[in-house]
Amino acid sequence: MSDEAVYPVTDHFRNKALVDRDTYESMYQRSIEDPEGFWAEQAKRLDWIKPFSRVKDVSFARNDVHIRWFDDGTLNAAANCIDRHLEQRSGQPAIIWEPDEEGGENRVITYGELHREVSKLANGLKSLGVRKGDIVTLYMPMVPEAAYAMLACARIGAIHSVVFGGFSPEALSGRIDDGGSRVVITSDEAKRGGKTVPLKQNVDEAVSLCRESKVESVITLKHTGADVSFDANRDCWYHELVGKQSEDCPVEEMNAEDTLFVLYTSGSTGKPKGVVHTTGGYLLHTAITHEYVFDYRPGEVFWCSADVGWITGHSYVVYGPLANGGTTMMFEGVPNYPDVGRLSRIIDKYKVATFYTAPTAIRSLMAEGDKPVAGADLSSLKLLGTVGEPINPEAWRWFHQKFGKGQCPIVDTWWQTETGGILISPLPGATDLKPGSATKPFFGVKPALMDAEGNELEGATSGGLVLKDSWPGQMRTILHNHDRFVETYFSTYEGAYFTGDGARRDEDGYYWITGRVDDVLNVSGHRMGTAEVESALVAHDAVAEAAVVGCPHEIKGQGIYVYVTLNQDSSPSDELAKELKQWVRKEIGPIATPDVIQWADGLPKTRSGKIMRRILRKIASDEFDQLGDTSTLADPNVVDDLIEGHRVAA
Ligand code: WT7
Repeated sequence: MSDEAVYPVTDHFRNKALVDRDTYESMYQRSIEDPEGFWAEQAKRLDWIKPFSRVKDVSFARNDVHIRWFDDGTLNAAANCIDRHLEQRSGQPAIIWEPDEEGGENRVITYGELHREVSKLANGLKSLGVRKGDIVTLYMPMVPEAAYAMLACARIGAIHSVVFGGFSPEALSGRIDDGGSRVVITSDEAKRGGKTVPLKQNVDEAVSLCRESKVESVITLKHTGADVSFDANRDCWYHELVGKQSEDCPVEEMNAEDTLFVLYTSGSTGKPKGVVHTTGGYLLHTAITHEYVFDYRPGEVFWCSADVGWITGHSYVVYGPLANGGTTMMFEGVPNYPDVGRLSRIIDKYKVATFYTAPTAIRSLMAEGDKPVAGADLSSLKLLGTVGEPINPEAWRWFHQKFGKGQCPIVDTWWQTETGGILISPLPGATDLKPGSATKPFFGVKPALMDAEGNELEGATSGGLVLKDSWPGQMRTILHNHDRFVETYFSTYEGAYFTGDGARRDEDGYYWITGRVDDVLNVSGHRMGTAEVESALVAHDAVAEAAVVGCPHEIKGQGIYVYVTLNQDSSPSDELAKELKQWVRKEIGPIATPDVIQWADGLPKTRSGKIMRRILRKIASDEFDQLGDTSTLADPNVVDDLIEGHRVAA
């Protein structure tokens, strides 16, 4: 990523952007010097039921981590995303939905309709006994009803926990259990690229696996019309439930610090953690970033291609665009179905102004040459965006040239599930672009780079990326586990939030994210904990020990590379390798499928028994000459065996 070519702010944005260079500088300065004043002013973009008097109450001190914003104010997120727009926009599209099947019936949902649908479902949830503070689990396809369900929860003060439809029944049950959900909303099936995913069947299995939660109601959307099993005591059809509800559902008055949702994400150790986001700060952060980073104006069609099962879908398919009275695109399918021209045809069909996607999708299209844009017009586009992983300059330039016709800036947005919204990103009217760099901090964001001893580094340098102060969209805690929250994010560097990423800062103060420095993988822009994959593997009878590391992968960014030591009565075979891959898919989901399995008689361990992953990572990446010091290994000979085994496996 040493590409230092600069793409200056374009004429279009220089003249018309909401934030130009000078405005960025002065607003940024103000947001750092007077965060309370800055955020109090910005908070006016939301409708408050009761105004707040306190802006910020934050401590990052290890012995007392607490994060509160606007904590005596009250509001409702659904009212902010729907009701307040009705007067001006009841007939304007809120959601445009494009189905998996090209040419299939699409849907345009106006704000008026969104209001009715969300209110009816909210009443339906109430009729099933859902109350303020209850956690409702959503396991849905990419359909408007997924957004309705999120907003219906928000409307009545219930907390949604969306689980990506690609996760297995095992993974789903863990999340239902952790949240103590009594109600699950799902669909008969999901459709993706012409294939179906048996969501309802997965829910049935997940519910039967639950150890803690007693699921009392499963609401099932009829989507593909597939036959599904039905438990009359527990299951109800979505359409039957909402069919009998009133369209009038008053919103629940929520404290700014009441939880809006929980979303699970992988860490470097243990089980996925339930990231807790609250109402006021999160909504403000997604609204302001959506407006400024994407220079969004109501009336434009905004398309974030992420699934609502991820934070990107929460923040930039649902909450940000709708809080701003925008029109948000939802696409059920995948980029290469029925062929690789699908995305550009969708952009033309709906005159999409902003297209926000993942580097992995760009790389997979880039491999097809000109086909992804052949015959497409794409002149509706004004801006492009990427998220999820560093983008290689080659892919950046391809996206810029082919989709953006050299005219559309690309905002490379760095953030995390934990941050709620974008924290480091160009603003199209203010920031000259450098391919591969997420560039500069957003308002109120104070990044810093640290060395291994915990000292802050100045100037052009590299180090661990921390944030020195809070921002409104920051996660507040890990569900049921504040100690783990403190330990994970606030114990590495005193008084700062540690992101888990490494970064470089150049002479212009631009940030270049270099990737995770912990045991978290980034596979196709999705986070995967190595510990999760390892614990799935060792649950298999044949496996004695497993170590998982990332390896470079052309399309996915990182692939999953597994070292397996077998039990004595098992022996390596291609069949067993296949079986183990299947096993992990079943335990976690297809996104966790190992790319490479290497059989290993032994793993590189220190004398105290700790696996030296650094060595495993280097071997998996073909960097045999950079193994570093191996003298502390209990048995240095394993290294040669592993290198030999790697040549066979890779
Ligand atoms: C991790 C967070 C934020 C939504 C999607 C992923 C990596 C994210 C970028 C970027 C380089 C990036 C980081 C981060 N990441 N965006 N623009 N450039 N790296 O959310 O699953 O919570 O993963 O994704 O490593 O820590 P997530």
